[in-house]
Amino acid sequence: MLLVMPKTKKTVQKSNPVVQALRQVVADSYAVLGQTHICHWNVRGHSFFSLHNAFEEQYTELFTAVDEIAERIRALGALAPGGLGNLAKIAGIKEIPEDSPADKMVAHLVDVNKKLVSNLEQARDKSAEAGDAQTEDLMIARIQVHEKTIWMLESFLAA
Ligand SMILES: [Fe+2]
Repeated sequence: MLLVMPKTKKTVQKSNPVVQALRQVVADSYAVLGQTHICHWNVRGHSFFSLHNAFEEQYTELFTAVDEIAERIRALGALAPGGLGNLAKIAGIKEIPEDSPADKMVAHLVDVNKKLVSNLEQARDKSAEAGDAQTEDLMIARIQVHEKTIWMLESFLAA
C-alpha cells in the first residue's frame, strides 16, 4: 500500500496531500473545460471553423480526463468534488467575458491552461513525495496534454 490508510474516509479527504492536490486539479480542469466550451460557442470571425473545432476537441478530451482524475481520488479512498458551484469555489481559474474577440479567447485559454499545468505539477510532486507512482504518472500524462494545447494555442497567436 502506497499511502497510510487513515481511520475514516473523511480524514483521507482532508489530510492527504495527494487527494487535496487532485481535488484542485479536478476543479481547475472543470473550469478550463467550461472556459474552452464558452469559447467554442462564442468564437467569431475568419478563424471560426478552425477554433470552433479545436476548442471542441480540447473540451471533449478534458471531459474524459476529469472523470479519470476524479475516479483516481475515489481509488485513493477519498471523495471527489462536484457541482458547478463547489468546483468554482475551489478552482482558481479566471473567466472570460462572452463577447471576447477570438485572439483574446486564445490568449485566455493559454493562461488558464498554464495555471492548470502549474497545479498539475504540484499534484505530480505531491504524488512523488507520497510514493504514489500511479497518480504521478496520471499527472505527468495530463501535463503533456496541456503543454501540447498551450503550444497549439500559442502557435495560433504567433501567426
Ligand atoms: Fe458544439
